[in-house]
Amino acid sequence: MKIINSVLFGVFVATTTLISFNSCEKEGGCGSSNVSASGGNKSHNMGQNCMQCHKTGGEGEGCFVVAGTVYDTLSTNTLSSGKIELFTGPDGTGNLVHTIQVDSKGNFYTTENFEISGLYPVLTGPTGHKSYMSSALTSGECNSCHASSNRIKGY
Ligand code: HEC
Ligand code: HEC
Repeated sequence: MKIINSVLFGVFVATTTLISFNSCEKEGGCGSSNVSASGGNKSHNMGQNCMQCHKTGGEGEGCFVVAGTVYDTLSTNTLSSGKIELFTGPDGTGNLVHTIQVDSKGNFYTTENFEISGLYPVLTGPTGHKSYMSSALTSGECNSCHASSNRIKGY
């Protein structure tokens, strides 16, 4: 009986190890690096909250620390270039902590890990015009607030 039990236990351990290993592979999300570049066209789901899927255990490739989408002044079309900068002070004051390029679909995203709480975003549009968020960030899930009626807009 003892022998059978330990054989069964061995099989159990082997199976669970295999299963958890597999599910880690699928979550593989968080392990991979995924950062937007100007001109890039691999992103999708413009305007949606990217972190619904690009999070720990989510199906998206890479866990985004900051991600969102930028639009024209009418919120109809996405911009196809530009950058998001994150400063320690409002209106582009203080230190520049991080820069994220807007890709050709209007999306910007990064899996690079840094403290975003308290930073102030600035969008520089294709013409060089700057739009400033006047309050400090509490979340990098930009599209969670910047949904249909409240897009990040620039030109
Ligand atoms: C409904 C779930 C979901 C949402 C929302 C989502 N993604 Fe994804 N994303 C995925 C999945 C699944 C993959 C991997 C398969 C694929 O490439 O389609 C992926 C892959 C990607 C890739 C890598 C594609 C490649 O071929 O290298 C990028 C870049 C990306 N997503 C960006 C974004 C951005 C930016 C947003 C928000 C504007 C976003 N995603 C919203 C599910 C999602
Ligand atoms: C908690 C909700 C919230 C989140 C999360 C958020 N924002 Fe904002 N954002 C706002 C509000 C509200 C305004 C308008 C008032 C202001 O400027 O504070 C705004 C304004 C802006 C503006 C100025 C837009 C314009 O049309 O002039 C930019 C740029 C901006 N946000 C970028 C971002 C970026 C980039 C992120 C993600 C890193 C982000 N926001 C995350 C709420 C949010």
